[in-house]
Amino acid sequence: MAKKIVVIPGDGIGKEITDSAVEVLKKAAEKYSLELEYEYKDAGGTAYDKFGTPLPEDTLEACKAADGVLFGAVGGDKWDNVEPSLRPEKAILGLRKGLGLYANLRPVKVADSLTEYSPLKPELVKGVDLVIVRELVGGIYFGDKCESEEFNGTERAWDLENYSIPEVERIAKLAFETARLRRGKVTSVDKANVLATSRLWRRTVAEVAKDYDDVELNNLYVDNTAMQLAVRPTQFDVIVTGNLFGDILSDEAAVIGGSIGMMPSASIGECTSLYEPIHGSAPDIAGKGIANPIGTILSAAMLLRYSLQEEAAAKAIEDAVDAALAEGWRTADLWHEGFKKANTEDMTRAVLAH
Ligand code: NAI
Ligand code: MG
Repeated sequence: MAKKIVVIPGDGIGKEITDSAVEVLKKAAEKYSLELEYEYKDAGGTAYDKFGTPLPEDTLEACKAADGVLFGAVGGDKWDNVEPSLRPEKAILGLRKGLGLYANLRPVKVADSLTEYSPLKPELVKGVDLVIVRELVGGIYFGDKCESEEFNGTERAWDLENYSIPEVERIAKLAFETARLRRGKVTSVDKANVLATSRLWRRTVAEVAKDYDDVELNNLYVDNTAMQLAVRPTQFDVIVTGNLFGDILSDEAAVIGGSIGMMPSASIGECTSLYEPIHGSAPDIAGKGIANPIGTILSAAMLLRYSLQEEAAAKAIEDAVDAALAEGWRTADLWHEGFKKANTEDMTRAVLAH
């Protein structure tokens, strides 16, 4: 039976980059005899303009019934004055909630031909190939909070961090499964020297590890991890961590790769998972046909890997991207003297050719 992919182009460069990724998916499907069906749905400002809501019920229902969702980006100045609860970005929060997206996976892989774009020294980033698995629906972002209360004659605010064993088990299993598809190494990141939640986290991850003899587990404090990412990022394979630490570390790790236009992500859900580049809708370059489509193409590869279990097709897309880059193709965000200038379509062709 054909697998169904819901495509949500969204706003700004969303249409250009999802068009590119769907072309690559179609080519991969042809080569690997996959039956894929595409259903297009609205979200974000585009949906607000048509239906008065950034996330129509019909879009959410289609996502729930799909095998995977490919998402472009939402947002833009045009909707700056829209009431906060109806802003385009609310579509993402609605999808996270509606699909139960409990984990965010952000791979950072630096192709040999791209080491010069990293703010770190090329010799430090050569060979970087890691993925951060961040818990997305628990921890301090979703705990009880107090905006303001009187305390000892002054004012204070607080946010409560809490994690339950099932919440940690679920994300830990995903990290170990991910490591199995990679180099078999998990680094669990916490602050167990001072936080009770971190001690429960560490204990639970160690329990889950017993079912994965083939995967190596290390524990690292978050402050040390932040430092290690900058001094020796090649040591990491899979990093698993809570919501707050993951938010911070995944942005730090993303810059190691050099360009925001290259980075894919997966949000793993209870029913359907969602795949999107980490960048936004880039209103400054929308409609010009010059956006870098690689972050979205690599997100489509992740969809094949994690939602359809089509590892060979996923790997073929990633290799094709590496080959196009090694050939010297660069979109405007990465181009400099000596390289082949590519617009979105040229880059897509270059990937398709491989
Ligand atoms: P942005 O990521 O859209 O753009 C930042 C800069 O990077 C811009 O100069 C842009 O041209 C460039 N850029 C981004 N993606 C690129 C690509 N594929 N190729 C070449 N250049 C690229 O972030 P910004 O400007 O902060 O946000 C713009 C809008 O996107 C806002 O409305 C924001 O809320 C929304 N946004 C949406 C996200 C999503 O849909 N998941 C995530 C982040 C922001
Ligand atoms: Mg962040």
